Amino acid sequence: MRILAIESSCDETAAAVLEMDDGVRAVRSSVVASQVDIHALYGGVVPEIASRAHIESINSVVTSALSEASVTMADIDVIGVTYAPGLIGSLLVGVSFAKGLALAHNKPLVPVNHIKGHAAAAYLVNPELHAPFCALIVSGGHTSLYDVRTPTSFYEIGGTRDDAAGEAFDKVGRVMGLPYPGGAAMDKLAAQGFANGRGEMFSFPSPAVPDDTLDYSFSGLKTAVINQIHTIRQKLGDEHAPLPEDVREGIAASFTRVVVDGVCQKLRRAAEQYGIRELVLAGGVAANSHLRAGVSKTAEELGIRLTVPPLSLCGDNAAMIGAQAYFEALAGNFADSSLNAYASDENAAFV
Ligand code: KG4
Ligand code: ZN
Repeated sequence: MRILAIESSCDETAAAVLEMDDGVRAVRSSVVASQVDIHALYGGVVPEIASRAHIESINSVVTSALSEASVTMADIDVIGVTYAPGLIGSLLVGVSFAKGLALAHNKPLVPVNHIKGHAAAAYLVNPELHAPFCALIVSGGHTSLYDVRTPTSFYEIGGTRDDAAGEAFDKVGRVMGLPYPGGAAMDKLAAQGFANGRGEMFSFPSPAVPDDTLDYSFSGLKTAVINQIHTIRQKLGDEHAPLPEDVREGIAASFTRVVVDGVCQKLRRAAEQYGIRELVLAGGVAANSHLRAGVSKTAEELGIRLTVPPLSLCGDNAAMIGAQAYFEALAGNFADSSLNAYASDENAAFV
């Protein structure tokens, strides 16, 4: 099955062409136009600007994906598009474009949930991966554990009650004055902090909710880190004072340590409760080197097989949407021309 996939849920306009069949999982092209430089000026994604940037670039991104794969629309069997969750104005650009293409070229259209797409990135690097498995999706909008019973049925067994891990990384990075988005810069700074023995310099509250659930809460941790930074600056006598290098490293490493420990703590509980044998770690924050190492150590200790996509498939991209579109198409989950976009999972048929 040759699939053209389109992703525009947040601030990346992306398109990919994939060849998917029994035993064949090949990405022929994957084009991502990032808006990060535009949103960096504002320190965060500005929804209206994101929608406008998508509409400007979507045609050239899709055209590039087709030409890089050396195909035309005539060679495409199925069009897959992200329809939820995400920024509504951003999603509508991709959905409208995909609907237009499907209508003009008489192709079947497959709606894809963005979170399922993140998990599906794992199929592209592990041909042996088959549901059932557990998916730990850690991104800018989600930090959730799913029991994936079939490739298209995801049951949330735990998740954040407030902020997502990515939001906490970005907010802490911003308060420390790191370049936007803070996640990648925090990763590097934490590595220096760990190398210099500063992983325990500060004690911050764990994001693992202290109860029997598999839930997380990142808002208390985020606030504690920000308060700590303000206290240090007050002592320096200037609320905008640059933090000393050892303190910056110590905050990044101490914050990262509790995030990784907290995520792994609930993962252990999930493994006990659900007898997990197969795990996928995915989403933008799965690019974090410390989280990858921590989850991989935990999985090894628990005898769980782990698949983590490469960095290029962790952040938003359309190849992962194409991988999920394949399984949705096999399950007969096609959309008609009334397909709509949804900002949240609640309004979309998630399972
Ligand atoms: O999955 P994604 O690209 O978009 C959403 O679906 O939300 O995730 C973006 C998030 C941002 O918060 C970004 O800072 C974070 O992933 N991120 C990282 C790293 N690389 C990206 N967070 C921590 N460490 C990283 N290396
Ligand atoms: Zn994402």
